[in-house]
Amino acid sequence: MEEKTMTADTPNDTRSSVSRRTFIKGVIASGAVVSSAGYLWRSSAVLGQQPSARGSVERLMTLNGNGKDRRVDVLKQETLATTLRYNLGLTGTKLGCDRVECGACTVLVDDVPHYSCSVLTQTVRGKKIVTIEGLAADNGTLHPVQQGVIDEQGFQCAFCMSGFVMSAVGYLKTNPNPTRAELAHGVSGNLCRCQDYDKILTALMRGAENMRKA
Ligand code: FES
Ligand code: FES
Repeated sequence: MEEKTMTADTPNDTRSSVSRRTFIKGVIASGAVVSSAGYLWRSSAVLGQQPSARGSVERLMTLNGNGKDRRVDVLKQETLATTLRYNLGLTGTKLGCDRVECGACTVLVDDVPHYSCSVLTQTVRGKKIVTIEGLAADNGTLHPVQQGVIDEQGFQCAFCMSGFVMSAVGYLKTNPNPTRAELAHGVSGNLCRCQDYDKILTALMRGAENMRKA
């Protein structure tokens, strides 16, 4: 069957035709380049070799994370998940899909759960960010929801755990005494690849109970 073709204007206004297959290959290739560039940037940042750039002063911002103000150098297109993990070392925030599907990267922004992989760090100036590392008390006492996870052993590999806990903590601020169905709905934006949902929900319900007793 003959392939359908698309045409595009070039900057000097000549017409070129691109087959659909060629076009898709190009999109996939450019996505791979962007991903690689991200890892290259992360590597150089870790090694302290990030080159200075024009306008870099504008990238400096104060990020309030877990109750502390920290000065960070943030690219305009950088996500909060990247800043937390690779700039501040808060690796309890996990990157599962990095495209708003799994909830592993959930953190609280002004007490509301957000997928940090879809939030640009430059947009959270002046807001309070809380990650899983910021839930325990200064003396090390776990947050009641974290304690609920310990009490019920609610996860298998636990890769999804910090996202579920942050979602539950955010939801319980709005509904401290939920039914099991309500809490399930409250954390329904989070996925578990081990599919241990029943135990996870039991652990989070225990966490809610712990919160009410605290
Ligand atoms: S890593 Fe953010 S939603 Fe999956
Ligand atoms: S316990 Fe393994 S992904 Fe949820």
